[in-house]
Amino acid sequence: MNSTACVLFDTPQQARHWLQQQHHNNRSIGFVPTMGALHDGHLSLVKQARKDNEIVCVSIFVNPLQFNNPDDLDKYPRDFDLDVKMLETVGCDMVFTGTLETFFPEIHDLSKIPLEDPGAFAQGLEGEFRPGHFDGVKTIVKRLFETVGNCKAYFGTKDFQQTLVIKSLAQEMGYPEIIVCPTQREVNGLAMSSRNQLLTAEQKQIAGKIFQALTKARAAWQQGQRDASRLKHLMLEELDHPAVDVEYVELRDPQAWHSQSQASLLKNPPQALIAASIGGVRLIDNAFLGEEFS
Ligand code: PAJ
Repeated sequence: MNSTACVLFDTPQQARHWLQQQHHNNRSIGFVPTMGALHDGHLSLVKQARKDNEIVCVSIFVNPLQFNNPDDLDKYPRDFDLDVKMLETVGCDMVFTGTLETFFPEIHDLSKIPLEDPGAFAQGLEGEFRPGHFDGVKTIVKRLFETVGNCKAYFGTKDFQQTLVIKSLAQEMGYPEIIVCPTQREVNGLAMSSRNQLLTAEQKQIAGKIFQALTKARAAWQQGQRDASRLKHLMLEELDHPAVDVEYVELRDPQAWHSQSQASLLKNPPQALIAASIGGVRLIDNAFLGEEFS
C-alpha cells in the first residue's frame, strides 16, 4: 500500500503553530479527533476528510477527563506507532498528541481542570450511565478545536449522542463545521470499536446481537410497527443471552432528543440506541429506524 510520512507533534502548541501556517496559506483543513487504537471506522473518517480538504490532521489522545471508570481508562488499548502507520496509508498530513499538562498549560493543579457543561443533549443514556463523560468530552474537544482552528471536523454516527453534544459545542464556538459519517461494521454487523480488541472471538460473535437487535427494530418499524414498547421489547428479546448485560435500550427523537419510550405510539422514525457489556467490555451502537443502515 502506498503511504506518505506524516508530520508528528507531541504537544498541541507545536501542532497549533504548524496549523496556523496552513491557515495562513489558506489551506482547507479536515480534522479527525480520536483516542487512538485506530480501526477502519476511524480511517473512514480520515478518508472522508482527505476527499474534502487540502490538509488532514488527526489527534490521538486518550482523554482521562471522559473516563468515569479508572479501570476502563487503564484497559483502553494504546498503540501510537501502529496508529501512525495506519494513518500514513490513508494520506494523513499531520498527527498530534499531548498530555493533560500540555492541553491545559494554564492549570497548575490538574485535578482542578474546569469542565464544560455538556448541555441538554448529554442528558440520559451515555450521560446517565457514564456520569461526567460528556463534560470530559466537551472539555477536551473544545481545546482540540481551539488548537486546530476553523476546519471541517469529522465524527462517527457510532457515538450518536456525542455528535449532538459536539454539534452544540460547535454552534457555541462558531466553528468548526461538523461532518457526521456512517458507522463502519464487522462482517457480523458489530460496530467497529477500539474496545472490540478486548473481546474474544466468541464474545465478538455474541456482540453481533446488538446489530441484530437494531436490524429487527428497523424491520419492524418499516413494516409499520409504531408501538415504542413493542419495538423496545423486540430489541431486548434479541439481546437476551447470558453473556450480554444490557445497560439501556432506548428510542429517541434524533433531533429533539426527548425520550420516546413512554409514548405508546410513535409518529416520527426514532433513533434506536443500545449499550450493553459483554465480558465486562462496554459496547454502544445505534440506528435510525427510518432508513437503511448507512
Ligand atoms: P474515539 O472513540 O477514538 O472515536 C473517534 C471518532 O471515531 C469518533 O467520532 C467516533 O464516533 C468515530 N468512530 C468510532 N467507531 C466508529 C465506527 N465503527 N465507524 C465510524 N466512526 C467511528 O470518540 C472519541 O474517540 C472521543 O470521545 C473524542 C471525540 C476523540 C474525544 O476524546
